[in-house]
Amino acid sequence: MESKTHACGDFKAELIKTAQEICAAGKGILAADESTGTIGKRFDGIGVENNHANRQAYRELLFTAPGIDEHISGVIMFDETVRDTTADGSKKFVDILRGRGIHCGIKVETGLVPIGGTDGETATQGLDGLGKRCAEYYALGCRFAKWRAVLKIGNGCPTEAAVRENAHSLARYGSICQQNGLVPIIEPEILQDGEHDIEVCAAVSERVFSAVMQELFNQHLLIEGLLLKPNMVTPGASCAKRAKPEEIGWYTVRTLGRSIVPALPGVVFLSGGQSEEEASLNLNAMNKLEGCPRPWRLTFSYGRALQQSALKIWSKDTKNIKDTQKIFNHRAKMCSLASQGKWSKELESK
Ligand code: 13P
Repeated sequence: MESKTHACGDFKAELIKTAQEICAAGKGILAADESTGTIGKRFDGIGVENNHANRQAYRELLFTAPGIDEHISGVIMFDETVRDTTADGSKKFVDILRGRGIHCGIKVETGLVPIGGTDGETATQGLDGLGKRCAEYYALGCRFAKWRAVLKIGNGCPTEAAVRENAHSLARYGSICQQNGLVPIIEPEILQDGEHDIEVCAAVSERVFSAVMQELFNQHLLIEGLLLKPNMVTPGASCAKRAKPEEIGWYTVRTLGRSIVPALPGVVFLSGGQSEEEASLNLNAMNKLEGCPRPWRLTFSYGRALQQSALKIWSKDTKNIKDTQKIFNHRAKMCSLASQGKWSKELESK
C-alpha cells in the first residue's frame, strides 16, 4: 500500500514530541505575543508608556517568574521578544525559557486585510516568505508557531468565502511550519461580539472547525504534530441569555467531538475577552464532564486571562516585581488546575 506523505519531511518525530510536551498533563501556553501595537493598548489601560524598556521589563518578569515552569509548557512571542534579552543584556529570553523546559513559540502572521465584497470579514496575511522566516525562527530556538484567523457571527457572517479563505491559509501556514520543524498552532478565532446565543455559536464553530480540519487533510498536515487553538463555544457578548460554565463546557466538547479527529494531541483555548476567573471556570467545566469523550488534551493558551491581574499590580509600581510574579504564578496555577478539572473557588481565593 502506498504510504501517505506528510508536509513535515524529516521533522516528523520532533514535531510529535514537541506537540506532546506542550500539552503535557497540567500544562498550557502563555500567549505573550502581543504585537508592539497591541501591548501598547494593554499598557495604555494601566498608564504605562509603550517603549522598549517597559516591554522588555514586563516580559522579563513574566519569563523569570518563580514556579511557572510547573504550569507553563510554552510561551508565544512577538518577533521583537524572540530576539530580545534581559534588561542587563546578559541572557536571551529564548535561552531563559528553554533552560526552564519551556518551548518558545512565535507569532508569524503579519496582519488582517478585509475580504472585498463582505461585511468587513478578514483574511490573515503572512504567507509570502514564511518558509524562510520559519527556518530563521527555528535557528533562533523556536519550536512552535501561531497564526490567528478571525471570523465573526451575524449579518450573514461568516460567509462561505471567509470560511474557505481562512481554512485554506491556516492549513497552508501549518504546512510551511511543519516543513521547517515548527509545530503550528492553528487558531480559528470566532469572535464573541454579537447578540447570538450559544446554539448559534455552536453551529458556526462546528462549520468552521470542520472546514479547517478538512483543509488540514487536503494539504497533508501531520495531525499528531499540530495543535488547535479555538474559541470556546459561548453566547455572544451582547446576548441576554448567559450560559453556565457546565453548558459552555458541554457545547464546546460536543462541537470538537463532531469536527476534530482524535489524532490531534491537544486543544489549547484562547480566552477571547473572558475574565480570568471565567476562563478558568469554563476550562475546568470541560475537564470535569462525564460521559463526553475527550480524546485530546484540553488546556489553555491564554493572553489576557493569564496577564490581567499581573498587569494591574505591576502598573501600581513597576519596581514591584515580586508581587507581580506571585499573582502571575497564581493565575498560571489556576489555569493548570482547570486543565485537569481540579480548579476550585477555595484554591482560587487563596
Ligand atoms: P487571549 O487569550 O487574550 O484571547 O489571547 C490569546 C491569543 O493568543 C489570541 O490570538
